[in-house]
Amino acid sequence: MLKEVRKFAFTCLLVPMLVASPLAAHDIITTNLTYSRDISRIFARRCLSCHGSGSSIPLTSYEETRPWAVDIKEQVLSRSMPPWGAVKGFGNLLSDRALTQEEIMIITAWVVGGAPQGDPATLPKQQPEAPGASMSPLRDAITITTRAALREPLTVLGLRPLPDKPVASARVVAQLPDGRIQPLVWLYRFDPKWKRVFRFREPVRLPPGTVVESSESLRFALETTQADDSRATELSRAR
Ligand code: HEC
Repeated sequence: MLKEVRKFAFTCLLVPMLVASPLAAHDIITTNLTYSRDISRIFARRCLSCHGSGSSIPLTSYEETRPWAVDIKEQVLSRSMPPWGAVKGFGNLLSDRALTQEEIMIITAWVVGGAPQGDPATLPKQQPEAPGASMSPLRDAITITTRAALREPLTVLGLRPLPDKPVASARVVAQLPDGRIQPLVWLYRFDPKWKRVFRFREPVRLPPGTVVESSESLRFALETTQADDSRATELSRAR
């Protein structure tokens, strides 16, 4: 699929590039997609949590976004943005913040089509809800420094890394009492600035005796729902 997108991007790029640089003053507009109607909505959902006004690269208006257009295309095609901070396929994670294939196509087609502004009247009236906003909030059930054995059963809904500095790579697994290894998350180029919780698709049930361990020295919290309060206190005392 990525290959297809690249091919698509390449074909679309070639034609306008032969005529004019994509950032030239008199762009040839070859797309119906516009910043106002299409891109602003995707950015509100996917980018503004980090690229809001006041950030080092604000992307909150057409004027702010336009100079970054070509860079934006590269960042989303290579899936460097939005940064994910984990290795895909390790652990059963919800990728609630990643761009969908369709969103990547829309952004790419908009940039190669000349990145037109469109009619500002079609801008969203209010900010769409950020992804995850409608999900029940999680809280720390237990905070672990690198390795801990559970004395009580725990159902985990997510993992919140709590490192002091960016993490190059760290793999967190649960070793179940029966010997099975349950992968939780493999952090990769994770930046604590992002304040991210990695949510699991399904609750992960960890029986007593489970050892939760990171391959590198790392502080992290296992997340649960509000309802699990009493157990959480007990567990952190048990450590
Ligand atoms: C979790 C935070 C986060 C999210 C979400 C995010 N970014 Fe970024 N982005 C960053 C950080 C951090 C940088 C590095 C520059 C900086 O320090 O501000 C960056 C840099 C960039 C750059 C410049 C890259 C370069 O070095 O040339 C572009 C373009 C960009 N982001 C586009 C996007 C777009 C488009 C989205 C949404 C689809 C997005 N980003 C979502 C954090 C984020």
